[in-house]
Amino acid sequence: MRNKRILLGITGGIAAYKIAFLIRLLKKEGAEVKCLMTPASCDFISPLVVSTLSENPVGIEFWNKSTGEWANHVDYGLWADIFVIAPVTANTLAKMAAGACDNLVLATYLSMKGKTLVAPAMDLDMYAHPATKRNLELIQRDGVSIIPAEHGHLASGLEGEGRMAEPETIFSWIENHLYATEELRGKKILVTAGPTYESLDPVRFIGNHSSGKMGFAITKELLRRGAEVVLVTGPTKLTLSHPNLTVIAVKSSDQMFENVEKHWGSMDGGVFSAAVADYKPKAVANQKIKKSDTELTLELVKTHDILAWAGDCKSPHQILVGFALETNNLIENGTSKLQRKHLDFIVLNSLEDAGAGFGVDTNRISILDIHNNLTSFELKQKSEVASDIVDYYVKFKK
Ligand code: CTP
Repeated sequence: MRNKRILLGITGGIAAYKIAFLIRLLKKEGAEVKCLMTPASCDFISPLVVSTLSENPVGIEFWNKSTGEWANHVDYGLWADIFVIAPVTANTLAKMAAGACDNLVLATYLSMKGKTLVAPAMDLDMYAHPATKRNLELIQRDGVSIIPAEHGHLASGLEGEGRMAEPETIFSWIENHLYATEELRGKKILVTAGPTYESLDPVRFIGNHSSGKMGFAITKELLRRGAEVVLVTGPTKLTLSHPNLTVIAVKSSDQMFENVEKHWGSMDGGVFSAAVADYKPKAVANQKIKKSDTELTLELVKTHDILAWAGDCKSPHQILVGFALETNNLIENGTSKLQRKHLDFIVLNSLEDAGAGFGVDTNRISILDIHNNLTSFELKQKSEVASDIVDYYVKFKK
């Protein structure tokens, strides 16, 4: 986000304290950040914290009482590449919908030339109220993008929808708006990510160390280029939210297969990065398996090869991408998988490469395609690797 100018508007809700984390994320990525606060928000987060973290003075009033200087809301609007109002309260939302302008945040909103994003935060009944819904629709019609509130614990002690999106989610919305392109607009793409957990009994499973980072990075990159994505993910700590994204969280390979089977027919392509278990226990015990003998033998059976299934019923217009994680004979094994699973191209990783593989933030890949082209890439951050893979995908667009 180097050289990007982000203007944050903070209004008076308890979620205002989280904006400190958002400012840190933005600054860490090299963005320039300026903040405007409504007087009510100063009860929830100190302007000193906001100005220190953003490394800029904070605008609160229309004019500075000590210097007599006017805070020019038009200049703020012209300076910013994007205006993000977070949290946005029911009160500010109503004023935005009506075009009211009794504070600096609202005056800047009305003068803003670029995009405005808002992240609502309120109690569940306020969020569900028809007036709130109507106001959200109105500002959306005026071109504002809404970062949906999330479900969770609320300051009132209640549980429900109304929690402001987490700073990381707001960050990815900002990133998406600043860097969005149109290359994959109108394309529907299915991504599989993460590990699968194959149950042995009610408390144990067979799993693997996949973090889901590569699949999530690919999803983010596809969304950034305008695609609609269905992400079927095994258990992971990662979260992602986007208007064009449907996330289906699964545990086992059977559940992953069921969901891929349901969606694959309506997709334009798929990137299958999940580390699906190749075998699962033949039977799942109803009760916890007790220890008895010195040895326990598990009988395992093959899981569905989800990628091979998608390859078998692939239509000519669909692009199919698989992954291979090999410890030896990378090219030979990769070529065999590419042909066997009817892929357009396969992303090859070697566990032998330092810095590549499960859990780490970097990866080193090669891509082998149906025309026998082999392209090798440097060791890179997974976000950059995702961009290389999606670039390759765009070349195959039919
Ligand atoms: N894959 C899948 N379903 C499975 C196993 C694998 O969809 N049950 C997909 C993975 O998401 C990956 C590709 O197949 O895109 C390669 O997986 P891998 O396990 O490396 O290949 P296999 O064909 O299972 O061969 P082997 O384990 O013998 O290397």
